[in-house]
Amino acid sequence: MSQRRLEVVILAAGQGKRMKSRRIKVLHRAGGRALIDYVLDMSFALSGHAPVMVIGHDRDAVRAHCGERARYAMQEQQLGTGHAVLEAVRVLGELDGADVLVLSGDVPLTRPETLRALLDEHASRGHGVSMMTMVLDDAGSYGRIVRSPEGNVERIVEAKDASNSELQIREVNAGIYVFRGEHLAADLASLSPANAQGEYYLTDVIATARHRRETVGALIAEPIEALGVNSRADLAHVERELVRRSIARLMSEGVTFRNPESVTIDTAVRIGQDTIVYPFAVIEGDTTIGSDCVIGPGAHLKNCRVGSGVEIKTGTVAEDSTIADGAAVGPYAHLRGGSVLGEKVKVGNFVETKKAVFGKGAKASHLSYIGDAEIGAGCNIGAGTITCNYDGVHKHKTVLEDGVFIGSDTQLVAPIRVGKGAYVGAGSTITKDVPADALALTRTPQRNIEGWAARKREQQSGKE
Ligand code: UD1
Ligand code: CA
Repeated sequence: MSQRRLEVVILAAGQGKRMKSRRIKVLHRAGGRALIDYVLDMSFALSGHAPVMVIGHDRDAVRAHCGERARYAMQEQQLGTGHAVLEAVRVLGELDGADVLVLSGDVPLTRPETLRALLDEHASRGHGVSMMTMVLDDAGSYGRIVRSPEGNVERIVEAKDASNSELQIREVNAGIYVFRGEHLAADLASLSPANAQGEYYLTDVIATARHRRETVGALIAEPIEALGVNSRADLAHVERELVRRSIARLMSEGVTFRNPESVTIDTAVRIGQDTIVYPFAVIEGDTTIGSDCVIGPGAHLKNCRVGSGVEIKTGTVAEDSTIADGAAVGPYAHLRGGSVLGEKVKVGNFVETKKAVFGKGAKASHLSYIGDAEIGAGCNIGAGTITCNYDGVHKHKTVLEDGVFIGSDTQLVAPIRVGKGAYVGAGSTITKDVPADALALTRTPQRNIEGWAARKREQQSGKE
């Protein structure tokens, strides 16, 4: 069997009206990525080079998103799937010795193995066309597969053109095909829009191939692999399947999920062995978590690097942050962008950090705001400490050198530096740098007025 070249065409010119969205359908996201990203990955896994994507609606947005990952064919008017592939064929040029795989930009769940099986069967049986089909209880608006009494595929009839008996057919067209390149351009050019929708149907090429006495292959796939996104309900269905696949993969790699159905996790997320994920965690974007971590109930991580042996406690939110080995965060902590927690750092409940770098073993255990700060190793930041980093115009930096002790309820008015090993007394408002090993205090001295409370109570009881 001689090796034929593979070209991939991705159809993505339609707007997707049933999404009721200002954004084109293929740029809607599921599992943390745009639908079209999954299809581009599939295509690349099979052919190893950029496919031709047919674009029309919102073409600038699609092109900006996909960039160099595709070559583009413009379809000015959406005259039908046959017309769309013809535009792609014009960009592809000479197709002798090539097979053309057509994918839809809104069908993201097909596994590369399934497509490979389709291509293999197409090649080994010498079919003129092969396609993916599925068998549904409710065939809805899908094109119906019409087979001969011997079981050979003869043609596809669109639901809107189908007779009552054809509408009973439960095997339907998934919209994924392989064509032999030799006849494709001519077959597409000869399509007629004489049908219920007045469109050039790609599906009519099947009947053309049969008239030439070519055979047509049909690989019956699991419906989930052929699921196309037409509505928000379909999008949610795709999201659920992507999350299910991610969690299945992570469990097979040694991650425990205490209640997997409740967890939301993006496809790019990586998690190490023996980490335990509690219910209702949401782990998004480009997040990597090491081994032996605990990701607590309702934790929300986005684009984070988390080391090993880290505990992220209940309700913690972290974004664009790095958390090193052995750190403990939360419950209910908020790490905003640029937070970097060193080894064994502790950031406790109701602590907010932003652009703050914590050295090894530093602690801010309760109720603090630490922003635009460098916190040295071993510092201890008392409850209620606030870095006053903003003067209404500019952000300023707070630097605590190693081993600094900040008493509770301190305000550090930036720009400010506290030298190595210094202490700041509780309740201070620090506006001047503190030298190493000093104690800084800004409290007014305490005054006790003996008997004052007793006298006040006496006065009040006299008035009644
Ligand atoms: C198509 C098939 C149908 C199949 C179904 C599977 C045809 C005629 N029918 O129907 O048999 O069961 O897919 O999902 O092909 N597109 C363009 N340009 C166009 C028209 C469509 O790029 O002019 C793109 C769309 O953006 C979409 C894909 O082609 O990505 C399919 O188009 P759509 O209108 O959804 O086709 P269906 O009516 O669903
Ligand atoms: Ca469709």
